[in-house]
Amino acid sequence: MRVLFVSSECYPLAKTGGLADVAGALPLALAPLGVDARVLMPGYPGVRDQLIGTTKVASLPGLFGGDATLVAGTTVAGLQVLLIEAPHLFTRSTGGLYLGPDGTDWPDNHLRFGALSWVGAAIAMGRVGTWAPDLVHLHDWQAGLTAAYLRYDREAARAPGTLLTIHNLAFQGLFPPATRASLLLPSQALDVDGMEYWGQLSFLKAGVQWSDRLSTVSPTYAREILTPNEGMGFDGLLRLRAHELTGIVNGIDDSVWDPANDPHVGTPYTSRKLAAKAANKAALQHELGLEVRAETPLFSVVSRLTTQKGLDLLVAALPRLVATGAQLVVLGTGDPTLEAGFVAASVAHPGQVATVIGFDEALSHRIQAGADAVVMPSRFEPCGLTQLYGLRYGTLPVVARVGGLADTVIDANEAALRDGVATGVQFSPVEADPLAVAIERTVDLFRDRTAWQRTQRRAMSRDVGWDVAAGRYLSLYQEILAHRSR
Ligand code: ADP
Ligand code: GLC
Repeated sequence: MRVLFVSSECYPLAKTGGLADVAGALPLALAPLGVDARVLMPGYPGVRDQLIGTTKVASLPGLFGGDATLVAGTTVAGLQVLLIEAPHLFTRSTGGLYLGPDGTDWPDNHLRFGALSWVGAAIAMGRVGTWAPDLVHLHDWQAGLTAAYLRYDREAARAPGTLLTIHNLAFQGLFPPATRASLLLPSQALDVDGMEYWGQLSFLKAGVQWSDRLSTVSPTYAREILTPNEGMGFDGLLRLRAHELTGIVNGIDDSVWDPANDPHVGTPYTSRKLAAKAANKAALQHELGLEVRAETPLFSVVSRLTTQKGLDLLVAALPRLVATGAQLVVLGTGDPTLEAGFVAASVAHPGQVATVIGFDEALSHRIQAGADAVVMPSRFEPCGLTQLYGLRYGTLPVVARVGGLADTVIDANEAALRDGVATGVQFSPVEADPLAVAIERTVDLFRDRTAWQRTQRRAMSRDVGWDVAAGRYLSLYQEILAHRSR
């Protein structure tokens, strides 16, 4: 089976969050199951240089305002990638994947991701290059318009199957209706039962409306988004398609995240050789200017600093974390107020709180290896990968009981500890006080060395790889194709 992934980011080529990790790992996990999966993504600066064996597939003249080229190549890990090289859309000397240097969206994001979606549809229809997929797997709003282009294609009847995976419903790709013509969409696309969303045009709604099947990245989030509280305005539409919506928990790439074999980690360790983790903790404390003390619990955060992640609650709970004597390291970037809040905390508590503002892949690995616990007080969390890395590294997740966090962490309550099944700490409701209590519970658990190490070993033995999820995606692909051929 041939599957085209359409994704705006892909590890290790371009990444702002977990979407990249999924797009970079799932195709590789599908390969042994007989799936030829290739990832179509934008040719951001520096991406082509990371690929080997690049060849030109086709010219894409006049692609949304300029000439472009489709290039094929492979990553070192063997991932097959199709890059849209379109300097007018993707070559920018400053800013990020979605935001300009002033921190606001690039003004032409509709054209940038419209083009990604348009090329996705063209490849799907077999009109570009010689390789055409049986199925197109769309990821988030940036790929949503592919479903619209296929829906309105002159040969729509022979279009391949489509699956949209919603990684985050908070990002809906909303643009003024006047952008429709520049996106080469017919006027009926903007009907209420099309992609119109409260007077705007929504890329995500196009994907939800016209993909054969929908999935999201955990069973709990799949249920949550059907409710008005968590559905972010899409719950009505999603309820109509509830029987076609599946929740599949993400895996992690064992070749990238393995404490026994991680080039970023100074001292490799396993669940049997847990003592070696202490050397990584000491090295991390030293690197960040924290007091080097084995007996002090070290909490960590590696995150986008946004409302979703609930880190304002951690700022509020910080006095109680500090009062326990514990340490905290924060690596993140995003909301300036949150950045300032954590910087202020590190100034107020030198040697006890350390803040690194920025995006640093290598440091994120050193933190997972060196910290004792990883905190995720998310208000909502479709899946979350950071807590899965925490499990793998014996860095116990302290998480809000929402979405994928609820599905992947077993709270260290009395019964779970007695039965030896606990893997972390959960709290609810998602407020500062319950978070502070969870942190205090974690410190208590940390001080009980036997119970802590037992929990670490249990966490590290959890199967968090991609095998199970890859099998589920394959079944879903097969169902879509079987349904199409009826
Ligand atoms: P989300 O996709 O919502 O940001 P996930 O937990 O699914 O959340 O994935 C986050 C990914 O991004 C993880 O791989 C995490 O290590 C990484 N990450 C987040 N912030 C940073 C940062 N500042 N530096 C390095 N890696 C980061
Ligand atoms: C999104 C979600 C996160 C999820 C990731 C990958 O960014 O916020 O919870 O893990 O996508 O699916």
